[in-house]
Amino acid sequence: MSIPIQWTPTHGEPYRPVPYRPERMPAAESLARAAELRERMGRRRTVRQFSADPVPEQVVRDAIACAATAPSGAHQQPWTFVLVKDAEVRRSIRRAAEEEERISYDGRLGEEWLAALRPLGTDEVKPHLTDAPALIVVFQQRYWLGEDGGRRKHYYVDESVGIAVGMLLSALHLSGLAALVHTPSPMRFLSEVLGRPANEKAFAVIPVGYPARDCRVPDLVRKTLEQVLVEV
Ligand SMILES: Cc1cc2nc3c(=O)[nH]c(=O)nc-3n(C[C@H](O)[C@H](O)[C@H](O)COP(=O)(O)O)c2cc1C
Repeated sequence: MSIPIQWTPTHGEPYRPVPYRPERMPAAESLARAAELRERMGRRRTVRQFSADPVPEQVVRDAIACAATAPSGAHQQPWTFVLVKDAEVRRSIRRAAEEEERISYDGRLGEEWLAALRPLGTDEVKPHLTDAPALIVVFQQRYWLGEDGGRRKHYYVDESVGIAVGMLLSALHLSGLAALVHTPSPMRFLSEVLGRPANEKAFAVIPVGYPARDCRVPDLVRKTLEQVLVEV
């Protein structure tokens, strides 16, 4: 397992502005790009049945690099992405996840939650955790932890990591890969299996790969623009 290079955040330094002058895109090009993006993003689906075919690893790394450009509260970048390729580690994650999911589906979730999940066809069996060739386990850094044990508070961690994961999913999809946001609850086992430090809390496991040949997805209806947009 590689060890990330220690990051020392800026803290208390003076404001140091630099010029930012991106070239303005002509409106016609903006319109064309936005329409194309809307159409391509509209074709993204959560995949739960994966082919075991390997994916180009650099595509996944590039998608993670895109996610890491996300805005974050006070620019604290409170995220770690653990890319799990090792089959034995994926098996350990699946074993532990299915143990938790069994308890959840046996009643911990409650009737209302189970009813919300029914149209998705999910249950406690999670083959995607071992079928997909890679898992990205996303951790939130609840606080910054220095090498000397010093800590500093992080702000808007949930929001920042949620935005980064949205960018990750977009990058993966637009690069031709399928993904699933899997949130087995509770997720403490992920810190144990992956040996993560005390300041990190698992946010989601994201299997990444190609859909299985016989992949099926629930027939879901998305809200229309008119249903989600309020213009004032
Ligand atoms: C925060 C979050 C948690 C999710 N957790 C799970 C999960 O644990 N298991 C699962 O099968 N799908 C999970 N999903 C996927 C959703 O069920 C899926 O996005 C939704 O049904 C819409 O389908 P679509 O992504 O194909 O549009 C999760 C999605 C989000 C955003």
